[in-house]
Amino acid sequence: MGLCKKLLIGGGITALIILILGLSLGLTVGRRNIRSTFFSRCEKFKEHDCKKLWDLFEKAYVNKDPCKVPVEAYNPLIAAAPFKPQCNKMMFWSKTKDVVHGLTAKRKDCFVTLEDTLLGSVLDDLTWCGKEGSKDTFTAGCPEWSECVNNPVRSFWNRSSAAFADVACGDVTAMLSGSIDTPFNSTSNFASIEVPRFKASRVKKLNVVMVIQKNAISNCNHPSLKNLRQSLDTGITYSCKDVSESRIQECGAKPEIACGACW
Ligand SMILES: *[C@@H]1O[C@H](CO)[C@@H](O)[C@H](O)[C@H]1NC(C)=O
Ligand SMILES: *[C@@H]1O[C@H](CO)[C@@H](O)[C@H](O)[C@H]1NC(C)=O
Repeated sequence: MGLCKKLLIGGGITALIILILGLSLGLTVGRRNIRSTFFSRCEKFKEHDCKKLWDLFEKAYVNKDPCKVPVEAYNPLIAAAPFKPQCNKMMFWSKTKDVVHGLTAKRKDCFVTLEDTLLGSVLDDLTWCGKEGSKDTFTAGCPEWSECVNNPVRSFWNRSSAAFADVACGDVTAMLSGSIDTPFNSTSNFASIEVPRFKASRVKKLNVVMVIQKNAISNCNHPSLKNLRQSLDTGITYSCKDVSESRIQECGAKPEIACGACW
């Protein structure tokens, strides 16, 4: 064998070893990542024992078939970090995630979403699941949102949005999208989980903010909003206002705007 060929093979083997090392390192880092993300986000909220919350979180899905994690699996976690009622500030959303969080990140004095609470912010945008026969948390190869209803991520958001809506009180705001065909869609978490939990004994009014972008195709006159009004508990007042996305951004950018004057 010529020197050149030997070098080539040697180089190929080295590259392969580096690739394998890199892959296994990547996998461990990926796994460690969710734990360290959980802790670093959790520690911003001083009032909770993050280790205890992580242990309760893991118990919900570890060593389970990732399509067999019911919403109830998260009851102990939510009981350990219950949602506090924040009357007149609670904000719900459907298909408006970015604009809503762009606002609440800057105007915590005005509005809070589920993703601004401890558990919601800790798990926002993360994917996780377990496997039968394993003590590990996986962040890849987990079921897609629609693949099976009882997957660990979907069950968490189902349970936590129910618990967040259960404590809704006073004037409640919901941001819906004017950029889609059906702003109030009965299959959404907002329609199927949150609205049915608003109770007239606690919630006085639901203010819908219809987010209008340049190419808006829906607004407050959309027929689907009739379904929203009809599914509201009797005694809860309803209002809807078309608001441009730029107006919402302005409210975020200018803290001097009073919360009630945002739109
Ligand atoms: C939420 O969970 C309940 C109870 O398991 C279930 O009936 C419902 O279909 C779930 N909703 C969504 C949107 O996943
Ligand atoms: C409601 O949302 C589901 C899931 O995103 C979608 O498949 C369906 O087309 C929507 N329904 C309407 C009437 O727009």
